[in-house]
Amino acid sequence: MSAVRCRLAPIASSSLPALAATSRLPLLKSTRLFSTNTTPKAVTSTVDVLGNVPTLELQKLLEGGHYRSVVNLCGPEEDYISPANLCEKYRLRYASLPVDSNKLSFGLGESLVSALSTMPHPLLVQCQSASRASAAALLHVASSPHEQPDAGSGGTAELSMSPESKGTFMSPTKALKFAEEKELPFLGKPPLKQWVERYLCARHVSLGHEDPNLFFRQLFDRESCTFTYILADPRTREGIIIDPVLEHLDRDLSLLDEYGIILKYALNTHVHADHVTSTGCMKARLDGFRSVLSSGYSSARADLHVDHDAKLFFGDRYVVARSTPGHTPGCLTFVLDDHSKAFTGDALLIRGCGRTDFQSGDSELLYRAIWTQIFTLPESCLLYPGHDYQGRECSSVWEEKRYNPRLTKSLPEFKELMANLGLPQPKLIEVAVPVNLEDGMAKIPSGELRCFGCQG
Ligand SMILES: [Fe+2]
Repeated sequence: MSAVRCRLAPIASSSLPALAATSRLPLLKSTRLFSTNTTPKAVTSTVDVLGNVPTLELQKLLEGGHYRSVVNLCGPEEDYISPANLCEKYRLRYASLPVDSNKLSFGLGESLVSALSTMPHPLLVQCQSASRASAAALLHVASSPHEQPDAGSGGTAELSMSPESKGTFMSPTKALKFAEEKELPFLGKPPLKQWVERYLCARHVSLGHEDPNLFFRQLFDRESCTFTYILADPRTREGIIIDPVLEHLDRDLSLLDEYGIILKYALNTHVHADHVTSTGCMKARLDGFRSVLSSGYSSARADLHVDHDAKLFFGDRYVVARSTPGHTPGCLTFVLDDHSKAFTGDALLIRGCGRTDFQSGDSELLYRAIWTQIFTLPESCLLYPGHDYQGRECSSVWEEKRYNPRLTKSLPEFKELMANLGLPQPKLIEVAVPVNLEDGMAKIPSGELRCFGCQG
């Protein structure tokens, strides 16, 4: 049973463009605009898009010898005619990249652009209605300087290389104008159109607004006064997130997607007692990154346990993990490659430091770690803490070495001070610590692990 065959009227084979095995051009050099999804639509001179067609028609298209590869965007649950067997028969390269219209991310756009640019051309992109296929083809056109229409073409003539466009991306406005002129089917599907616009805008914007070599955002959770940080390499758009908070998962994922940041690592500076990390839930919503925790918590769950001096790369940038125990045994400070920034978690706070009266805290360890691992950084190094309760955003090594009321004391004075802080237990400690030891996942009665936030 094929729902698609009911929806799309089969076309007579005689109405298909003539296929000449000896010629690769007649079918695709045309710039005609097609009104049916059953006939290939030329988006560029070497990329055609196609909806689902009866097997016989598809066979006629592929046996003509014109196409060298086929990219299929239908998922296994969809009722479509898979070209896999035909591709094998005619020795064509074949790739299946299921596109779920409910999961349209920047990373998906990257995957499609990569596939369409590396598969041999001429290439046929297929899905059920040609909407996803035409969206993918447009992303390819807009991201590939050699595919961009030259200035005088009006977007409907043959595509050729424009010398000034080499090494650049087509602007979102120009790309969408091209799509309208070509009457690409995805324009009729608002979610697809919005996704294409978002992808094109993210590709077009420069990530390094202030520093051309770094994208940097500091985010805040009012409930626990926790700071979350996002860093990315503007060139490759690969990035990391430090200490994400469960309640702000949507906020953080939106920001990553809006800027087209490809997340490599989600770092937790330590096992938090005052909030639940979002790293577990994030994995249900985003692929391709690894959660990171110190090897000091070897029995805690994380995709990657790192030791002192471990480098975590995102693009050409990296942070180095420095062991700064004392607040907990596994606390890490992440230092940016150029020593311009350090993310101190709860080891060193602005004019303060993490408490040492629970989670196996040790005030002497903390004091020594801060003086040997943080205060040895350049005095210009900006310090970004895990929390601040008084509205401060960052400090510097220079400031804290001189004005931190705790760390400027002698070790014996510091130990006595820390032993007598008399702080109440964090409100969430009973909930947060066991969940954070499981990377933000919770054990349900059957023993299985589920996202703590959504139980999914
Ligand atoms: Fe903490």
